Amino acid sequence: MSDPIIAVVGATGIVGRQILASLQLHDVEPDQVRLFASQRSEAEELDYEEETLPTEKPGPDSFRGVQVVICATPADVSRRLAQQAQQAGAWVVDVSGAFRVDTTVPLVAPGVNDGVLDRPFAGRIVAVANPATQALLSVLQPLRAKFGLVFADATLLFGTSTLGQGGQDQLSKQTAALMNGKDPELELFPHRIGFNVIPAVGGFEGPLCDAERHVLVEAARIWSGDALPALTATALTVPTYHGLTLVISAHLNRPVDAEGVRALLKEDPGLKVLDDPSQNIYPMPMLTTDDATTHVGRVRTAGTRVQLVAATDNVFRVADTAVDLALKLANRT
Ligand SMILES: NC(=O)c1ccc[n+]([C@@H]2O[C@H](COP(=O)([O-])OP(=O)(O)OC[C@H]3O[C@@H](n4cnc5c(N)ncnc54)[C@H](OP(=O)(O)O)[C@@H]3O)[C@@H](O)[C@H]2O)c1
Repeated sequence: MSDPIIAVVGATGIVGRQILASLQLHDVEPDQVRLFASQRSEAEELDYEEETLPTEKPGPDSFRGVQVVICATPADVSRRLAQQAQQAGAWVVDVSGAFRVDTTVPLVAPGVNDGVLDRPFAGRIVAVANPATQALLSVLQPLRAKFGLVFADATLLFGTSTLGQGGQDQLSKQTAALMNGKDPELELFPHRIGFNVIPAVGGFEGPLCDAERHVLVEAARIWSGDALPALTATALTVPTYHGLTLVISAHLNRPVDAEGVRALLKEDPGLKVLDDPSQNIYPMPMLTTDDATTHVGRVRTAGTRVQLVAATDNVFRVADTAVDLALKLANRT
């Protein structure tokens, strides 16, 4: 059988570029890769191993002969191109929010619901869970399995990369303007993000912002079938470029001590325990770069209550998951 062809749509974006890095780490050859972006980047060439690969604007026949299309595009673009790719016979791995609430599309959080693709599903689209959902559930899952989980509350601190390259550019421009005594221009964020914290990520529907709603809805889908613990979440945008920090407070069914919690979390291959505060060792987003694990620490307990801090590389996490799924799907008929 010839090597599968993998298309990356949104290859010029933050997630798309990380997907290219991950494909190279998995030894996917340049001639197996097709790159797409918007018209804005049509002439752009991206480095891949020793070669440069052209990006194209996707057209009606772009996905013919392609086994897997990874969509790292805005949700409206993903919705349109995923259907087109599926009709051309390709598998689709989508990282946007377009299909995460569609109950006909499997939603994957690695290490939490890995078996989901083994169950039959209609269509050829697979959705990657939001990195905040992935990180939160990866920490709660072992606690839930061993001690029982009644309730968890999470504060989610998102860096500006959560809005892609444009979000990071805003932080740079606004910080530079403020440092030079100028008024920063507002574009992507509803308020200044330079030297500020915004208690929201995305727009509001009722009392919850997009990021909060997404995490709660996705968690309910991924944990479906069992008696669900109650979850609450508060999302904030902080003036960093990369990374996601979570402050988690959980109520368990049984009393726990901090050593027992640390020992349990250390057994989980998806987690890295960094917890020696007297030596200033604890999770920080800067330590998570290019690391697929969730870092966890600052473990404190009181009776049935446990508090901890976690951090993850949001971009690496979602890109790595997408590539892993793409490689698994590439040889499926
Ligand atoms: N950033 C994160 O932490 C994160 C985490 C999880 C999921 N996601 C999701 O991943 C997706 C991409 O996010 P990002 O952060 O990488 O954003 P980004 O840096 O803004 O990149 C967006 C990409 O989409 C491309 N694109 C836009 N319109 C297109 C069109 N009509 N046809 C083809 N390509 C088009 C852009 O191409 P041009 O460069 O040509 O404009 C660019 O390559 C979004 O759905 C986002 O919600 C992001």
